[in-house]
Amino acid sequence: MTHLFARATAHSNIALIKYWGKSDSEQNLPAVSSLSLTLDGMKTVTAVQFDSGLECDAVSLDGQPTDGRARERVVRLLDVVRARAGLELFARVESVNDFPTASGLASSASGFAALALAASHAAGLRPTRAEVSALARACSASAARSVFGGLAVLERGALSAMPLPGIEGWPLRMLVAVTTMEKKAIGSTHAMELCRCTSPYYEAWLAESVALFERGREAARLRDFASLGTAMEQSTLMMHATMMTARPCILYMSPSTVALIRAVEGLRRSGTEAYYTMDAGPHVKVLVQAGDAGTVRRVLEATPGVERVIDCGPGPAASVSTDPGEGS
Ligand code: PMV
Repeated sequence: MTHLFARATAHSNIALIKYWGKSDSEQNLPAVSSLSLTLDGMKTVTAVQFDSGLECDAVSLDGQPTDGRARERVVRLLDVVRARAGLELFARVESVNDFPTASGLASSASGFAALALAASHAAGLRPTRAEVSALARACSASAARSVFGGLAVLERGALSAMPLPGIEGWPLRMLVAVTTMEKKAIGSTHAMELCRCTSPYYEAWLAESVALFERGREAARLRDFASLGTAMEQSTLMMHATMMTARPCILYMSPSTVALIRAVEGLRRSGTEAYYTMDAGPHVKVLVQAGDAGTVRRVLEATPGVERVIDCGPGPAASVSTDPGEGS
C-alpha cells in the first residue's frame, strides 16, 4: 500500500568557493562554479504528505504556516513533482530547521534539498541523486549541493551538483559564529540580479571565479588546507565586493562580522590556521582542522556580537524514509 508520504533529512552546506550570479534566471543555472562542504551540525527535516482531503498545498516552516514568496517556491517544486508523477493531489509540507532560518545560514540549501527528496518519494517517484539535485537547484542553486555529503561541486551552467570524493579522514571543521537571529534584509535571488545589473565588478567576479574554483578544487584534492582556506577567503571577499558595489549597495556585514574577521586574522598571526567565510548574511563561518577547533571556538565566542558558535564536521548525504512512523 502506498501512503503518498515521505520524510527527508538534508544538511546545510557552506560554499568554500562561492556561487553568486545566474547564467539563466528562468532555469536558475549558476553563472560560476562552486565548491561546498555539507555540515553535520545544521539540518532540515521535511515531511510531505499528498492528501485528497486538502484544497490547497499547506506549507509550514518551523511550526508556522508559510505564505507569500516562501510558499510559492515550495508550490513550484511540488507542481514539477506532481506533473512528473501524474498526481493531482495537494500536499501538506512540514519543514523544521535546527538552526536560524533565512539569515545567511544556508537554510534554503538544506530546505530545498530535503523538500525535493521528500516530495519526489512521497509522489512515488524514485529519482537518482542527480535528479533530486536538479529539482532542488531549480529553486535554490546552493540546495543542489546539499543532496550530497562531504564536499560537493556545482559547475557553472550545470543542472545538478556532484560529490567531490576524497575527504574521508580529513579532520575538517566549520565553526559557525551566529551573530544575529534576524531574517536577512534582501534575498539572494534579488541581490544577485542587482549585482548583475548594477555592479561594475560583476564581470570581473565572473572572470576571476574560473581560476578561483580551480584553485579551491585542486587544494581540496591535495588536502592542502592553507591553499583551500586562502582561496575560500578570496572567493568570499570578491563576492562581497560585488555586492557592496551594486546600487543600491548590498552590505550583509555587521560590526560583529568585521570583528570576527579580525579575530581570525589574529589567530593566524599567532600560529593557528583558521580561515573565514560569509554568505548572504552577517554570520562568519570559520574553517579549521579538528585539533584547533577548541582554541578557535573560544576566541569566536569571546568576540563582541556573537550569540553562539555551532561546531560542525562534514555532514552526510540527504536521506529519506517513506515510513510515516519513522523519525516522527
Ligand atoms: O542558493 P541561493 O539562492 O540561496 O544562493 C546562495 C548563495 C551563497 O550562499 C551566498 C553562496 C553559496 O554558494 O552558497
